[in-house]
Amino acid sequence: MSIPIILAIFVGDKRLCNILGPRKDNLYIFNDIPMFWFTKKKSPARLFYHTDLHSHIIPGIDDGSQDVATSIDLLRHMQSWGITHAIATPHVTAGTFENSLDTIDAPYRLLCDEARRHDIDIEISYSAEYRMDENFRKMLDSGGTEFIPLPHNYLLVENSFMQPPIDLDNLLFTLQLKGYKPILAHPERYSYYFHNKDIYKHLHSNGGMFQVNLLSFTGHYGKPQKELAWWLARNGMVDFVGTDLHHAEHTRVIGEWLAGKEYQRFEKELQNIKNDTLI
Ligand SMILES: [Fe+2]
Repeated sequence: MSIPIILAIFVGDKRLCNILGPRKDNLYIFNDIPMFWFTKKKSPARLFYHTDLHSHIIPGIDDGSQDVATSIDLLRHMQSWGITHAIATPHVTAGTFENSLDTIDAPYRLLCDEARRHDIDIEISYSAEYRMDENFRKMLDSGGTEFIPLPHNYLLVENSFMQPPIDLDNLLFTLQLKGYKPILAHPERYSYYFHNKDIYKHLHSNGGMFQVNLLSFTGHYGKPQKELAWWLARNGMVDFVGTDLHHAEHTRVIGEWLAGKEYQRFEKELQNIKNDTLI
């Protein structure tokens, strides 16, 4: 059996292809064969929004990236996902990462220079992720002028992972009195809230906006966090989504997940997030 006949049988349906040949050089050419015979269609691994408001990409000042090379690698991944604006949010936590303008600005400028040198096409800026601890209270008591807010005076705040602030309602209220719009970082990750879904409704209806981690939707932190992320989405309580990137493993997980089916559901259900209102 000649090669063209074997191939015609293999392809099976003459409506789908037009096999010509042999040519003079004994090569066979194929016209009009739909590309799906040869390439599996893959969803583009890109996010539907372009602004990330939570990451630890400024090198050497918290538990995120420890050097510029790692930061550049994280930024390259963000760029490949379609992020055009990355707002870095180093931790500000009493006793461990007591960051301020004095510690953030120099490594930030270094990162911007290196990003330019590596042709990274992302506008990088910074704010911070404030743990609501004793130092935070001092800053708030002294007027809150030391805070480095996100655009439009949003302020990214987080609970301790051990227990919530005893006066969380009051802290959120005081922030609003001082003109800030508090965004609670990754509320789906606090295990003491796992069995108290009413708390989410309470906090959200009292002016606390929610930033859920993209990694939570993937299941990276565990099943309860994933279920809560999706539950918050279904109930219209996801105001922002953040990568919370710290290291290369996070980029691997997000990259693989973006190419999968679950991302399509994410894109459909999270259309109302406000990430791109920050630019
Ligand atoms: Fe974070």
